Amino acid sequence: MPFRLVQLTDPHLFADPSGQLLGITTRRSFESVLTLALSGSTPPDALLLTGDLVHDETPAGYRYLGERLRRTGVPHFCIGGNHDVPALMTEHLDSVAPGPLALRRLGHWNLILLDSSIPESDGGSLTPTQLTQLAQLLDDERAPTLIALHHHPTAIGSAWIDRIGVANGAELLALCEGHAQVKAILFGHIHQDFSARHGGYLLLGAPSTCLQFRPGSPEFAIDACSPGYRELRLHPDGRLETRVARLEQYSEMPLYLAGGY
Ligand SMILES: [Fe+2]
Repeated sequence: MPFRLVQLTDPHLFADPSGQLLGITTRRSFESVLTLALSGSTPPDALLLTGDLVHDETPAGYRYLGERLRRTGVPHFCIGGNHDVPALMTEHLDSVAPGPLALRRLGHWNLILLDSSIPESDGGSLTPTQLTQLAQLLDDERAPTLIALHHHPTAIGSAWIDRIGVANGAELLALCEGHAQVKAILFGHIHQDFSARHGGYLLLGAPSTCLQFRPGSPEFAIDACSPGYRELRLHPDGRLETRVARLEQYSEMPLYLAGGY
């Protein structure tokens, strides 16, 4: 049986249950997406949350998320994004990646979690130490591997978002090219579905559980797609299947004319 991993990203939660991000009540949309992700005949084997977990930097936002994830009974892994507070993540969430690089097992697969955040910045980067440690890990660990981080390490064709990706993402891509066990690099931050092949692996972005950004837009623009998540099926022989699932419909309308958030 493949290992079924669900990626939930950029929930932008608030302490206030009715807190909104440009017209979307983020706790409500997160609950809807989580319910959809858990609705199959068997629950996923693990959940992966790839950052921008709480928007207002409050303990109450992280406490809600920690309790909600625990209540699913599903193992979960969390990495931070540009909107997160590492100390609050560590205090309130289980399975926060300890430090800039961490290794987790997903059945026959490895999951490597990278912290790409830079304090006080919307963009990201990886330190020389992180890249050195990653190279060492990939030399030592040969199981099929997923790498997850918040920021996108490649341009996605949307100028405003591409200015705030991983500044040295090309170094990560080059490093992974030399390691055939890397099957995919997963990221959040872009609030949209994205999939591209780079050499032997996939580059995969995912919709946010709240607000969606319009693909290909040169400046900030909101998309009409519903909130959603990405699912991955990881086969023991290294094959990977993936799809994006979205809410069939979502009742709240985002503020389409907003110029940023
Ligand atoms: Fe975000």
